[in-house]
Amino acid sequence: MRTDTPLTIYRKDYTAPSYLVDTVELGFDLDPARTIVANRMTMRRNPASGQREIELYGEEIDLVALRVNGKTLGKRDYRIDGNLLRIPNAPEDVVLEIETICAPEKNTALSGLYVSNGNFITQCEAEGFRRITYFPDRPDVMAKYTVMLRAEKQRYPVLLSNGNLVEEGELPGGRHYAKWEDPFPKPSYLFALVASNLVCQEEKFKLADGRTALLQVWVEEGNLDKTDYAMQSLKRSIRWDEERFGLELDLDRFMIVATGDFNMGAMENKGLNIFNTKYVLANPRVATDLDFQGIEAVVGHEYFHNWTGNRVTCRDWFQLSLKEGLTVFRDQEFSGDMVGTDSGRAVNRIDQVRTLRQVQFPEDAGPMAHPVRPDSFVEINNFYTVTVYEKGAEVVRMYQTLLGREGFRKGMDLYFERHDGQAVECDDFRRAMADANGRDLAQFERWYSQAGTPRVRAAMRYDAAAKTVELTLSQSCPPTPGQPDKLPFHIPVAVGLVGRDGRDIPLVIDGEPRGNTAVLELTAAEQSWRFTNVPELPVPSLLRDFSAPVVLEYDYRDEDLLHLFSHDSDPVNRWEAGQRLAMERLLKLTADVTAGSRMQLDDTFVDAMRKVLTDDALDPAFREQALLLPTENMIAEQTEVVHPLSIHMARQFVRATIGTRLRKELMAAIDANQTPGEYSPDAEAIGKRALKNLALSYLAAATDDNEAIDLAGQQFEQADNMTDKAAALGALIHARAQSAAGALQDFYDEFQGEALVVDKWFALQASAPSTDVGAVRALMQHPAFNIRNPNRARSLVATFCMANHVQFHVPDGSGYQFWAEQVIALDALNPQVASRLARAMDRWRRYAPVLQAHMKKALQQVNGQKKLSNDVREVISKALAN
Ligand code: TRP
Ligand code: ZN
Repeated sequence: MRTDTPLTIYRKDYTAPSYLVDTVELGFDLDPARTIVANRMTMRRNPASGQREIELYGEEIDLVALRVNGKTLGKRDYRIDGNLLRIPNAPEDVVLEIETICAPEKNTALSGLYVSNGNFITQCEAEGFRRITYFPDRPDVMAKYTVMLRAEKQRYPVLLSNGNLVEEGELPGGRHYAKWEDPFPKPSYLFALVASNLVCQEEKFKLADGRTALLQVWVEEGNLDKTDYAMQSLKRSIRWDEERFGLELDLDRFMIVATGDFNMGAMENKGLNIFNTKYVLANPRVATDLDFQGIEAVVGHEYFHNWTGNRVTCRDWFQLSLKEGLTVFRDQEFSGDMVGTDSGRAVNRIDQVRTLRQVQFPEDAGPMAHPVRPDSFVEINNFYTVTVYEKGAEVVRMYQTLLGREGFRKGMDLYFERHDGQAVECDDFRRAMADANGRDLAQFERWYSQAGTPRVRAAMRYDAAAKTVELTLSQSCPPTPGQPDKLPFHIPVAVGLVGRDGRDIPLVIDGEPRGNTAVLELTAAEQSWRFTNVPELPVPSLLRDFSAPVVLEYDYRDEDLLHLFSHDSDPVNRWEAGQRLAMERLLKLTADVTAGSRMQLDDTFVDAMRKVLTDDALDPAFREQALLLPTENMIAEQTEVVHPLSIHMARQFVRATIGTRLRKELMAAIDANQTPGEYSPDAEAIGKRALKNLALSYLAAATDDNEAIDLAGQQFEQADNMTDKAAALGALIHARAQSAAGALQDFYDEFQGEALVVDKWFALQASAPSTDVGAVRALMQHPAFNIRNPNRARSLVATFCMANHVQFHVPDGSGYQFWAEQVIALDALNPQVASRLARAMDRWRRYAPVLQAHMKKALQQVNGQKKLSNDVREVISKALAN
């Protein structure tokens, strides 16, 4: 906690480390109240640096001893300045020995070494290692680690760290030890240890080169019935990386440890991944389809980091997307390949587009907007964002779109050939892609340096006599903080031309056949392409498969959109046409509510929805995506002045109208999409459940439909899986059914022993428009609520502030008041979690004036706190800055 103005760190100020570390030997005497850490490093002056001072970081640790080459340093031999310890005039080669003490049980920030439900856990990314020992805690310092763990044997029978177990044994006083050695040099952020009484599911797994690896998933004893899916996902990940990228597991042993107290999803520590229980534990009784999909994605993600992140790491934290964007892209491709079918892949892609629009576009248009490779930050933990992760993944995807799958693979191969074992920059990745393919990707760099979502405007002219189409694309990008003017991006725009019969017209550009979909490369502010042999006026299908993270503008007529919605061969654009139809109406209805006019929904739209709902040629999963309306967030992004209540009422009206007018078809969809027999989280069954449960929620939204409420009640009673159970409960709560309260109580009684399900129980209530701020405060008094647990705090407090627009934005400002209190309270415990909650106010300037005034007051209240973490201070001051 600092009270002074936090320091901004700039990418341009990078300097090489003064000293390099070859080996690190760590000794831990683990004790929750007082853990002693002995650190012995062999260091040498870095020839690439002119500096002779050793620079070490340390935070919240007590220094006990400091020795250079065996000689204890006196108070005048070194300086401590905040978190920085400097040793001037150090010799060329140094053995540095440091002893420190920390208090894991007092560590509520969950960064560094902490205690979770009685077990020792570490989290070192980004800068948590300095909370364990003094160290040049920066990713470009890579060393080989040997770790000796000592702890009470009965309480902590399992002692784990990175790499290979080389020795274990007994110690006097009921203690024992384990020694681990990691053969690969690594940055300190990948260090991990676990001392626990956890148990594991383990398996020997044969690798492509014939070696066998030991795979383990470590959990609390009562959770051994929930580890299968994570283990299967791990094996599939290993196989996939071998096959798709020729990348093998480089260790004999790979461990996943689940902990209930974790700030993020999971962490890729070398050989010892640590996971939020949310992304490990699953069985049909407690986990939803979404949970199963999340586990597969995150297990894949962390495993893939072993190459993209660990073997090749980041030079500095500004390069974070080098590993995160690339690894998200890899986990997305993995999930797509696991689904297998083209339509399943498209459904995955649609989900990705939805996340971008729902979360990333708003970030890129708000006060925290930053380039995929930021130029500055105050607190690096604030930059684990959807921009660095998801937009970063889109940037990587664009290489593949521009270079083709094979070209992309060549680029990856060259990247590893050049940089294995190094800490590098985003530019190095781009150069590998360019050089491996003999392409100039200089302009592509702007995707890394310029923030903001580019707009691409399209205009089409058809010449009936010449049978040609001229397609003109122009681009612009709105200003973002610190970047008023933007230069043109290199944008791959995949296009098709859809004929009157609904089929693709084969594309010929400049006399060259280009198949049914052509990737146009827009590099100038404006460019035109001429398509020949176009027999009739087509409907353009633009940005197919969402080929770039941009907003595409084209003046579609309703009939064009209806045509694409029925026929586009690109499923993503087919879905997109429906979203455009829906958005047009939602915006109009929102304005009507605000103006006090009567709402009405046209038959054209309802008929289009009917058609897609009843089209049995389409996968249920796709139909569900097509019927799902843009979220309240997405609508808000499209409105000049945001009136959250109007948006909610407009969207509810459309949902209820669909529920009423398509009643018969929705009922039939519920019947047709039952999944009897044993639960399975395969794409087909997931799609059926999704469509069925969306149908149920639309029916329940039609206020006078008692039959729908009964149906939801029955499903709640009879469901044998959490997907159906939670969906039915949600339908009851959102419909404000009389039976909702009883169902909630039954749900709690049945699952109170399952922490992850109790999180769902809180979240379901927190997001319901019937739950006001008073009810949230009451829920915070529930014995199961615990603000120190990030999952629990998020499930109630963050869900309310970020997903319950109606109640959070009540006109009297009491929702914002609650937000301010919670940010302040959380900040004293866990700055990372507080800072994420702080971002609920990002878009405050866009709200109606009355709300804006209340929001500003709440922001100022937080900002007025003397003691605030850098994390929260940065987010709040950027929100308030002009
Ligand atoms: N590298 C992790 C991932 O993307 C992210 C992460 C996990 C993290 N825990 C963290 C980042 C704590 C910052 C702080 O897989
Ligand atoms: Zn990651």
